Amino acid sequence: MTSILGELEIIEKNFAERLSGAASSDELQQVKVAFLGKKGSLTSFLKKLGSLPTEERPAAGEAINSLRDAMEQRLASKKTQIEEAESAEEERKNRLDVTLPPRSRMWGGIHPVAQLTQDVVEILAGLGFSVALGPEIEDDFHNFEALNIPASHPARDMQDTFYFPDGKLLRTHTSPVQVRSMLRFGAPIRIVCPGKVYRRDSDPTHSPMFHQLEGLLVEKDISVADMKGCLEALMEALFGRSLKARYRASYFPFTEPSLELDIECVECSGKNPSCRICKGTGWLEVAGLGMVHPTVLRYGGIDPQVYNGFAWGVGLDRLAMLKYKLTDLRVLFEGNVPYLLSGRAL
Ligand code: DAH
Repeated sequence: MTSILGELEIIEKNFAERLSGAASSDELQQVKVAFLGKKGSLTSFLKKLGSLPTEERPAAGEAINSLRDAMEQRLASKKTQIEEAESAEEERKNRLDVTLPPRSRMWGGIHPVAQLTQDVVEILAGLGFSVALGPEIEDDFHNFEALNIPASHPARDMQDTFYFPDGKLLRTHTSPVQVRSMLRFGAPIRIVCPGKVYRRDSDPTHSPMFHQLEGLLVEKDISVADMKGCLEALMEALFGRSLKARYRASYFPFTEPSLELDIECVECSGKNPSCRICKGTGWLEVAGLGMVHPTVLRYGGIDPQVYNGFAWGVGLDRLAMLKYKLTDLRVLFEGNVPYLLSGRAL
């Protein structure tokens, strides 16, 4: 009997050691199997009971049972302890620190030309103009013919055109939208057309693709004064102050008379002889304009005896440069995102 108790003591001691070493649910399970499992040390010990003298069996059985109960209890309390530690660890790993600053994000921005286009369109909407768009792949009729630029006309040399093999072309200006809109909507009409145009030109001050904005107003009894009022109102709203304007006689086949509009330098107002924007002239060329040629009205299906009007074309890239004080045209086309987002004047 004493030897049995001695052996049980050893088992208990081993158990206590293994138990205190168990650090996870898995390890705890292994301890349980090693002592109380089918082939566990205590279970195998139980099998030895049969070999004991009958009178010793009850006491031995009791000792084994109480040890098993004690073991089970200790396993259970260790189990709770381990599970608590494990769930605390789990929680620690997944904890959300709501006080952390957010990861910084790159915000997108509106391209200067897109922003300017939007501004111009909004200003002109206030004067009753709606937006009309036309195709970038044009035909000879709308790009030239209907604008009073026949095949033999020397004005065709003014524009170096990208042609497709089938005779179609990349529009060289937004003026063809004048004809398309007149044919589609008739008179009276007030439209503005922003868009991309293409010419065989590429150097530091010319891009083969650039942006223009065409305006067209055809109504009854329209005068050059109406045209001037409209363009000057646009420039004033765009640059935020009233600017001096001057008109120079020019030539475009689709207008008669034809003019060019210069505005007072937005940078120096003519006060700086070495101004890098106006080159000391005090003036900036911003638009080609004129009274719509009767031939163009006729091509647009409008009777020039009843209606007349004016049209203009402005370079949006140049206006964006003036408004946002950019010095190099190329930045507008190079997709230099950090520069475009650097928030210069936008
Ligand atoms: N289409 C001309 C160009 O690209 C610009 C222009 C001049 C448009 C006079 C007009 C206008 O509507 O009246 O150079």
